[in-house]
Amino acid sequence: MHDFDLKNRYAIITGGAQGFGLDIARRFIKSGSKVRIWDIDETELKKASQDINSENLSYDVLDVSNFTQVKNAVEKISENTNIDILVNSAGITGPTAELWNYSIDDWSRIIEINLNGIFYSCKAVVPHMIKNNYGRIVNIASVSGKDGNANASAYSSSKAGVIGLTKSLGKELALNNIAVNAVTPAGANTRILNQMSKEHVQRMLSKVPKGRFLEVHELTSMVCWLSSEENSFSTAAVFDISGGRSTY
Ligand SMILES: NC(=O)c1ccc[n+]([C@@H]2O[C@H](COP(=O)([O-])OP(=O)(O)OC[C@H]3O[C@@H](n4cnc5c(N)ncnc54)[C@H](O)[C@@H]3O)[C@@H](O)[C@H]2O)c1
Repeated sequence: MHDFDLKNRYAIITGGAQGFGLDIARRFIKSGSKVRIWDIDETELKKASQDINSENLSYDVLDVSNFTQVKNAVEKISENTNIDILVNSAGITGPTAELWNYSIDDWSRIIEINLNGIFYSCKAVVPHMIKNNYGRIVNIASVSGKDGNANASAYSSSKAGVIGLTKSLGKELALNNIAVNAVTPAGANTRILNQMSKEHVQRMLSKVPKGRFLEVHELTSMVCWLSSEENSFSTAAVFDISGGRSTY
């Protein structure tokens, strides 16, 4: 596997203790970047940090749905370094149920983490990127934000919101050297799938023409390019990685 050129870059990856975020962290470090992971799960953060065992990895235990925590973390980091890259991967699916049976608390929590969390991270980080006239932001949305999934209205809505946020912010920053893009993966076999029923996961899989789950490293590869300086013209865009499920 080749490396991308991320030498001397500093990246924040939210939700990086596991799954997509952790794999992206590994490949960023291998490609020369310093990485700071933000995650709410301290146990998994410690495990990830021991496993990667690199001086280029550090972390904060924080909740992306808490703007004060996010802002304080950014202020601390920016005392010592530019922030070149932000990958927003923290997310939850919540339970699977019809909209009319969805609990208001579950709905709110999903929107708060998946959508507001990205708003908060971008709100805190973007002023620093503007000051340095450089930045690459990648938001992990989902194919469900384009197509909608039955019994996942909150999740699908939050991811549709992430797509709208990405398009707006990308346009706002188009004259700076700051690219903002979203990716829309189909299902991948990470811990997040445990939050949904087995039937729901099977239904998701049955919609994928390639007939299999996305491999985590396949998404990482796309995120690496989008996060690199080589991505100099794509912004406010949505990159599909759904094995043919979504063709737009
Ligand atoms: N795996 C899939 O099938 C799939 C498909 C499409 C999109 N996605 C999206 O990809 C992203 C990553 O998912 P994953 O599959 O790696 O899941 P995962 O559960 O393996 O990882 C998500 C990480 O986010 C962290 N997190 C959750 N809430 C948080 C909070 N409030 N603050 C900070 N960290 C928090 C978790 O602790 C976890 O480490 C999510 O946004 C998810 O919606 C996943």
